[in-house]
Amino acid sequence: MAQEDVFKKVVSHCKEYGFVFPSSDIYDGLGAVYDYGQNGVEMKNNIKQYWWQSMVLMHENIVGIDSAIFMHPTIWKASGHVDAFNDPLIDNRDSKKRYRADVLIEEQIAKYEEKVEKEVAKARKRFGDAFDEQKYRETSPKVAEELAKRDALHERYSKAMNAMDLEELRQIILDEEIVCPISGTRNWTEVRQFNLMFKTEMGSTADGASTIYLRPETAQGIFVNYLNVQKTGRMKIPFGIAQIGKAFRNEIVARQFIFRMREFEQMEMQFFIKPGTELDWFKTWKQTRMAWHQNLGFGAENYRFHDHEKLAHYANAATDIEFKMPFGFKEVEGIHSRTNFDLSQHEKYSGKSIKYFDPELNESYTPYVIETSIGVDRMFLSVMCHSYQEEQLENGETRVVLRLPAALAPVKLAVMPLTKKDGLPEKAREIIDDLKFHFNCQYDEKDSIGKRYRRQDAIGTPYCVTVDHQSLEDNTVTIRFRDTMEQERVNISDLLGIIEDKVTITSLLKKLK
Ligand code: GAP
Repeated sequence: MAQEDVFKKVVSHCKEYGFVFPSSDIYDGLGAVYDYGQNGVEMKNNIKQYWWQSMVLMHENIVGIDSAIFMHPTIWKASGHVDAFNDPLIDNRDSKKRYRADVLIEEQIAKYEEKVEKEVAKARKRFGDAFDEQKYRETSPKVAEELAKRDALHERYSKAMNAMDLEELRQIILDEEIVCPISGTRNWTEVRQFNLMFKTEMGSTADGASTIYLRPETAQGIFVNYLNVQKTGRMKIPFGIAQIGKAFRNEIVARQFIFRMREFEQMEMQFFIKPGTELDWFKTWKQTRMAWHQNLGFGAENYRFHDHEKLAHYANAATDIEFKMPFGFKEVEGIHSRTNFDLSQHEKYSGKSIKYFDPELNESYTPYVIETSIGVDRMFLSVMCHSYQEEQLENGETRVVLRLPAALAPVKLAVMPLTKKDGLPEKAREIIDDLKFHFNCQYDEKDSIGKRYRRQDAIGTPYCVTVDHQSLEDNTVTIRFRDTMEQERVNISDLLGIIEDKVTITSLLKKLK
């Protein structure tokens, strides 16, 4: 199946099976805002638990907090978001559509890369088995020409972005003859800066309301609580503070479903360290976070690091963990060495000392910080895209199955009475009443057993149990495994032992090195 089709199918599957709905659906939706349904919320909670427990339970020196979304407006001045959390925007006068100038140029860079891939594909077809791809890439004049154009554009673009030279960004768009995808024209306006923070007002206007912002990241809630946590928790450096919560950005190019949303959720951890140790800790956290991702078993080839060449003014190292989505390798998590920028800024703007007294060195300093920041929704999307499969069965039928890691699956066990009579439903409910304290179970008695299996496959339920007349006699049931579709007769009293170990978050954590 073409990757584009996979993505479309994942999006419609998410809606059809109660994972993700467009927000305000009956009012035709709200741009780039989504709701999680009955299965989506379970899976999302499992992802959050996997992250939270891996941080807070598995590390003695990491604690969690839950800070408010509304914060003092000066925080966003101090953090640099009021002045610099901007996207460069450009409008097409004919279509009246607005675009991000940087995205238009990045798409143009990608076009040169696509041309190279087309050339390589054509040559592969022409030369057949004798094709030496590496040699062709190194020697083809056409490939060299496209790569040279790409590199020249990339260099010019990076310079313009580093300097935030808006005129130059516009000039690049004109020189590259980039057209509006709607009107097909090059009738572009100037490029303007657009701040991504949502604003609202606190207090009534008569009282003199003040403008406050919906937080664009959860990180600042951690920085401004650093002193509270360090003092009340008697934390010693190195230590971390973790938080999961909503963040809001007025994204202009909001598309690709839950990949880029206006309201989304982040799982962030700030790790406070001694100045000078940051590059070692950066390396450690890169490895730790990559291991967390790969522990899900999706295959190491689907992940890569993208180290940043261009660093934000406060950072001295940064990388993204990218996952292979159906629309290419995309950032799911960022790891940043943020120096002491944030704490120093809050010291300056609040007038309070945010120093740490290091008893070993017998001196005070402003701690440095390594940040790990992952989007819950992007993580959710990566799990969905990787798990969605359409399988051809031996009998010619196709089954849609979500091969979710069992610990992330919304429902762990479906219990199905073969018929709705003869005491089978009661026996099935007995099983659920016993197991529901351990994991999420679902009772299902409607339609044929085959249809019920398909329904559970489609939401990724790893185990189904069928209760039949024999169950009443000898307390055995048939357990059916999602991935192999194999079935086994087992004692009801053994179900907990068979299932529990494989479906808990603990089972995932134990595999983490
Ligand atoms: N505190 C650092 C920070 O916020 P970021 O790279 O802007 O860094 C971190 O965001 C993560 O948050 C990203 O890797 C991504 O997973 C997620 N994220 C950012 N913007 C998002 C959006 N508009 N929709 C969904 N997830 C988003």
